[in-house]
Amino acid sequence: MKKLLLFFAVVLFSLSAAAQKFDQLAKTPPMGWNSWNKFHCDVSEALIMKAADAMISSGMKDAGYEYIVIDDCWQVSRDENGEIVCDPERFPNGMKYVADYVHSKGLKFGIYSSAGTVTCQRRPGGFGHEYQDARTYARYGVDYLKYDWCGSTTQDAKSSYTNMSNALHAAGRPIVFSICEWGSNKPWEWAGTVGHLWRTTGDISDNWNSMIDIFEKQKDLSRYAGPGRWNDPDMLEVGNGGMTTEEYRTHFSLWCMLASPLMAGNDLENMTPETKSILLNKEMIAIDQDTLGRQATCYRDNADYQIWVKTLSNNEKAICLLNKSDEKKSVLVDFELLAGIRTFGRGFGGMMPAPPAGGAGMPGMPGIPGTPAVPGMGATAGQRPQGAGTPGATNPPSAQQRPRMPAPLTLKDYTVRDIWEHKDLTLKETSVYVDMLPHSVKVYRFVRK
Ligand code: GLA
Repeated sequence: MKKLLLFFAVVLFSLSAAAQKFDQLAKTPPMGWNSWNKFHCDVSEALIMKAADAMISSGMKDAGYEYIVIDDCWQVSRDENGEIVCDPERFPNGMKYVADYVHSKGLKFGIYSSAGTVTCQRRPGGFGHEYQDARTYARYGVDYLKYDWCGSTTQDAKSSYTNMSNALHAAGRPIVFSICEWGSNKPWEWAGTVGHLWRTTGDISDNWNSMIDIFEKQKDLSRYAGPGRWNDPDMLEVGNGGMTTEEYRTHFSLWCMLASPLMAGNDLENMTPETKSILLNKEMIAIDQDTLGRQATCYRDNADYQIWVKTLSNNEKAICLLNKSDEKKSVLVDFELLAGIRTFGRGFGGMMPAPPAGGAGMPGMPGIPGTPAVPGMGATAGQRPQGAGTPGATNPPSAQQRPRMPAPLTLKDYTVRDIWEHKDLTLKETSVYVDMLPHSVKVYRFVRK
């Protein structure tokens, strides 16, 4: 009898410890705008309403951006009942008024808090008020919550975020849950059932080194991403002035290759034509938003020259060539070879992927024994594919156990489209020299004929 009671106690405990996120949200990476990168604490009702207006007049909404998110500094205190109080000067009509306005434009509304006792700007955090705050957000009409990690001291990250996830679920309004604990506790390993996206690094700054450094840190994370569960390399800096147009184009392309959430962080009311041409490149956005939900993997890493591959639905793929160096490069690109590449999680080759681990999206795929070496390619000839033989994937079947994939598609099955030139390539030769500016990308989509 004692044993039986213990068994039920264990079952009950594990049920209460499990997160209950809203499953049908963020099936593709969330897109929107967030106030932080440009405006920091200078947020107000007027700013948010103008951002909503500009989202529409600029064409951003038509391109797929939908969330308007107020970041830190909207809150000033808690009242005698513990209710969060928004800044009465900056939000004179309260938060529901702002949410209603955003909704009236056909957009969705997001807000920010922190799992600790204070936010990063030392405003009241959510600790100890999770269920109360979740009910308040539901009453405001919140659709998206970014939940930071400031003021958290010795809290356990997974339990803290699970608690808030459950609180949101209990409040009953479907809210995208954006976990922002900066990758400190490897959220990719546990956050897939807790939230819809999780930051993987510290904050981005508006400069090349910060952006490319964050990008590099995403290399081993592709297997954790999938519909409803995204790695978040932080919000976009496109249009904020600290990078060149070329660098911003690279920033945006890399984020789209990573199937990252696309949260613009610039002043939507005052966008230059260059900024618009980047944020509104619908062909690039379509690569980010592909319904298969696969994050790109690095196929060749020659340090300052890399090739990234993102598998798309309908047996299509996006290929991104990246010149990280400060010099121009001329690279020999073998389109026949690129056409034949297939990716499974992090690995490359001609075998079926290993079965999913623990219900997660596409699992990692270690280097496949017996896979023929891929012929060299331009500046990277003879290198082994990055990610091959990487430890950490769960017991894959041996090459003999796995069925062979059907023959790979070849170049004649595809039209190759240059995503920034907005043109199909006319290839006279299958290998072509491509000139690349410093800090630039080339993005090609292999479109099925
Ligand atoms: C942290 C987050 C940022 C931003 C600020 C606000 O640094 O990582 O994205 O939300 O807090 O204070």
